[in-house]
Amino acid sequence: MKRLLLVLVSAITVFLIFKSSAPDGTKGVKILTFTEDIAPIIRQNCITCHHEGGGAPFPLTNYREVVKRLRFIKEVTQTRYMPPWKADPHYRSFANERGLTEKEINLIQTWSEQGTQKGEGDLSIIDPAEVKAKLTAVYDDELSMSKPHIVPGDNSDLFVFYGIFFERSESHPIEAIEFIPGNRKVVHHANISFYSLNKSIDLGGKGALSVLLDLDNPKHVALFNIPQQNHLYATGWVPGASPMQFPEGIGFDLPKNGFLLLGIHYAPTAIEEEDLSSIKIRYAKKPIRNKIQAITIGSSGIGEFDKSLDIAPNEIKTLTVSLNIPRDIYLFSANPHMHLLGRKFEAKAISPNGESIPLVRIKDWDFNWQEFYQFKEPLKIEAGSTIHATGTFDNTEDNPFNPNYPPIPVTIDGMKTEDEMLAFMIFFTLEKP
Ligand code: HEC
Repeated sequence: MKRLLLVLVSAITVFLIFKSSAPDGTKGVKILTFTEDIAPIIRQNCITCHHEGGGAPFPLTNYREVVKRLRFIKEVTQTRYMPPWKADPHYRSFANERGLTEKEINLIQTWSEQGTQKGEGDLSIIDPAEVKAKLTAVYDDELSMSKPHIVPGDNSDLFVFYGIFFERSESHPIEAIEFIPGNRKVVHHANISFYSLNKSIDLGGKGALSVLLDLDNPKHVALFNIPQQNHLYATGWVPGASPMQFPEGIGFDLPKNGFLLLGIHYAPTAIEEEDLSSIKIRYAKKPIRNKIQAITIGSSGIGEFDKSLDIAPNEIKTLTVSLNIPRDIYLFSANPHMHLLGRKFEAKAISPNGESIPLVRIKDWDFNWQEFYQFKEPLKIEAGSTIHATGTFDNTEDNPFNPNYPPIPVTIDGMKTEDEMLAFMIFFTLEKP
């Protein structure tokens, strides 16, 4: 009841406080405190990234740290820049969704206007052990870069791909996967794809061999074209991402012989840094009954585009790629992908009776915040449905992310960041989970 009252008054509190300018003079208005009202919001929504070594540029782990940044915190929560979440929650909401409610945003504003009262009890909002626990979880296997990647201190973004070939004595069902950034100062985001190899490879008992891929070497580029049916699984990492954990009996097998494609975006740095990132894997005790499958619709995948893949200088182009789904599938997660010219993205399924099923919509695409959106429940897409993924690309000078000034012709089929992509990767099972 007290909470409910708070919702009602919070909207007008700012106004009241403003008028009276004496916080304690506003009779009947609850004075918000850090420990009771603010710490829970920060704990729930911010500290996964905003702790020492957590990927965000500064910690928000106690009263002092929050008050110090309060002006910015108010701003970034009100504009919904933080916590980062690009998918439109009114289109579809997801299991891994982040975001503050209107009420929570107002609480922060009001607390600030009322003079940032401390309240009773502990002013720290993190138990560091809690955060560490996640990273020290027990794993059975690890696939790592074999030597550190040197990130030059030249203040520019850097995108690299590592190919990691591996051989195991047998295949293993997988229960959980976690990307472990080696150097959180520079690892900005990462994408991971597992493939099986048709040919056995012999690494001479080495277990794994990691190769820095050269995108000017056709042999290396060919590795990006491993057939769809060999694509086992993919996931992404951004600061704050949790490990990927599969429900019992669902997942994929780490093959005896396989290939892992690891793409890393390093953030600009003024001093040289080294990074040795890895992927930790926990084996499942029970075999996989219901295999997760992956398909990429669009660039470097399958499907029909409705227009040419070329984007002329100063053109704003919207195009759609469509794929017919021949049998029932159950969607687990989905990953929209575009590069720097991408501005908007929308994916939906149209069922055979014409019903439109919203999948993901991003009104304001940001290359830096890519996600593997996890559906709350496996989402059934009926046989005969068509999945459409639509992207809008802005190749004008007005696009602040356009890497070319003046704009140059760009095509939507490249792996390099200067090229564009329109891709929608979906993960699903064929049997009802
Ligand atoms: C998924 C990780 C993540 C979460 C969760 C997150 N942040 Fe951030 N935050 C970042 C990163 C990374 C940056 C720096 C890059 C940037 O500014 O885009 C940042 C930057 C900021 C900034 C500085 C913005 C600026 O313009 O300089 C503020 C303030 C901030 N976050 C507050 C918050 C608050 C408050 C929350 C919770 C409501 C939150 N963040 C949740 C990762 C996160």
